[in-house]
Amino acid sequence: MGNKELANGIHWVGAIDWDVRDFHGYSTLAGTTYNAFLIIDEKITLIDTVKRSHFDDLMFQIRELIDPETIDYLIINHVELDHAGSLSDVVEAIKPEKLICSPMGEKAILEHFHRDDWPFQVVKTGDTISIGKRTLSFLETRMLHWPDSMFTYAVEDGILFASDAFGQHLATSERFDDQVPLSEVMDQAAKYYANILYLYNPLVRKLLAKVAEMNLDIRMIAPDHGVIFRTHINEILTAYDEWSKNRFDEKALIIYDTMWHSTEKMAVAIARGIEQAGVFSEMINLKVHHRSDVMTKVLNAGALVLGSPTLNNGLLPRMAGFLMYMRGLKPQNKVAAAFGSYGWSGECVKLLNEAIQDMRLELVDEGLRFKYVPTDEDLKECVALGRRIGEAVKQRNQQQDG
Ligand code: FEO
Repeated sequence: MGNKELANGIHWVGAIDWDVRDFHGYSTLAGTTYNAFLIIDEKITLIDTVKRSHFDDLMFQIRELIDPETIDYLIINHVELDHAGSLSDVVEAIKPEKLICSPMGEKAILEHFHRDDWPFQVVKTGDTISIGKRTLSFLETRMLHWPDSMFTYAVEDGILFASDAFGQHLATSERFDDQVPLSEVMDQAAKYYANILYLYNPLVRKLLAKVAEMNLDIRMIAPDHGVIFRTHINEILTAYDEWSKNRFDEKALIIYDTMWHSTEKMAVAIARGIEQAGVFSEMINLKVHHRSDVMTKVLNAGALVLGSPTLNNGLLPRMAGFLMYMRGLKPQNKVAAAFGSYGWSGECVKLLNEAIQDMRLELVDEGLRFKYVPTDEDLKECVALGRRIGEAVKQRNQQQDG
């Protein structure tokens, strides 16, 4: 069996995007892949396509195996354009007998491509089709992470084609999870979860429960990005269980930006207090960390301590942008507090506190703000704030374990 073959007759025919570095605001420093799969059976079936820029790669991979015009069924698990971007070209090239998608998938395809003459076959959760020796069954996964998203399960082979779920933005010439260091796979899977799926935690929990109830014999999980899980299936399922439960470590992130180092001095003193309370702290200067990397760290943090000076009656723009991004991803089950320096109007802490309350995080302190440059006495107050935050994290941690 070749490196691109998942099982006898089931082939990876996707594309590797070594160069992509920005995925609508998510930094993809390791590139990504757009996975598509070809099942050669009595009815030859293609699962998903690729981003339009990589259409030629997809067709090249298919042509190495078969004449593309012999493909009978095209399954679209997800309509977002990194997977369905080349759909018009693929339909033109293969002229499928059936274009199979979820009910919301049909709607999304029509709204993207405006082609009601395509041969749609709509499938719902529990529907099955036979493609010869194999049976494919379908599970709608609405809002994980688009309304149209669904899984396709190859029953006899035990392969779950999981669309974006369990994905990682990781460009590699290897196709399977046991061919690259597991830590790299899991780090990218965590970043993917934190930046794409985090806000849907309750739906992830329902999906995991549904999959357990269906008692599927899952021997492989094939996401649409990154490597395919064939060895570490338990690890990725356990990680999704932990992440979706909002579990956290005794860890506080001090996320800040600074103008003339006063807010930074406060951050250092707060970190000292957190450590004095016996809690791990990590300094996140938004000048040097990308927002999507910060979100990966937020995933298992017990406290978020947000700092910004006041600029023009508002926050520094990096902090304002980060808050906009993080608010959409809906972090939960964390304590939080704010701090910052100011010159005259001094709205920073008030604005940060409002953002914390908007996100429904537990505001554990009214926060600290100091004029221009903090004194030694001011910094002692910062240390004391850090201790209070650390104690609050420990207390919440006892509750989650209790
Ligand atoms: Fe990888 Fe939602 O697209």
